[in-house]
Amino acid sequence: MEVVITTPAECARLAADAVERLLRDKPDAVLGLATGSSPLALYEELVRRHEAGRVSFARARAFLLDEYVGLPADHPERYAAVIDRELASRVDFAPGAVRAPDGAAADIPAACAAYEAEIRAAGGVDLQVLGIGTDGHLAFNEPGSSLASRTRIKTLAEQTRLDNARFFGGDAEAVPRHVLTQGLGTIMEARHLVLLASGRAKAEAVHRMVEGAVSAMWPASVLQLHPHVTVLLDDAAAGRLQLADHFRETWSRKPEWQGL
Ligand code: GLP
Repeated sequence: MEVVITTPAECARLAADAVERLLRDKPDAVLGLATGSSPLALYEELVRRHEAGRVSFARARAFLLDEYVGLPADHPERYAAVIDRELASRVDFAPGAVRAPDGAAADIPAACAAYEAEIRAAGGVDLQVLGIGTDGHLAFNEPGSSLASRTRIKTLAEQTRLDNARFFGGDAEAVPRHVLTQGLGTIMEARHLVLLASGRAKAEAVHRMVEGAVSAMWPASVLQLHPHVTVLLDDAAAGRLQLADHFRETWSRKPEWQGL
């Protein structure tokens, strides 16, 4: 796991560099996209680079990590709508190239299986953008999630509904109780995982993810088993890392040619 501790702006720039390099080398790459506030600066940077003619998504495809169950098709907080607003509609993805689990499906298990099949048929995810919940969740894999899990329905933890209430007018009761989410096993098959976290509220979860035992109690700790993870943190999110000085030293001495 590579841990980089820097400013939020630099985190976004580094993540955008990785996406830009991937799309230059492989224009039909498959991206994994996360919602939440953590990747917003990255998406802004990608839009800027697209407008500057540096990056094109015309041949790329993308898969969202998760989706709420039961929100009406026109609800602005459906993750499919959120990602469209924040990134997809502002760059040049082909129509239908950005996919999300179908939170309105009548047959939920079939929709989850179909989503897994779609990711597989696309050749798997090349670069997966991730955030982390304050309770250590990845996508919507709450504490207790199987480390081998696949796309399925989950019940949100109370903490996550409180955390996400800000997107629903501050009303935790308005946050759906059920979600569809890629499993930890699904996420672990992406070839490069890029996780962004900022702020003190994430410091404990980041510490457990990077330095704790691998455990379903802190789902993001499963990333310790992945061969290519880049964790981009600001000082506050890195505030509880015992190895923070080592990570800073390692980053400052990293050979130019190595990349992320
Ligand atoms: C959300 C999403 C996750 C996200 C996390 C953190 O509920 N399902 O994909 O990484 O919680 O959100 P934020 O980046 O807003 O702190």
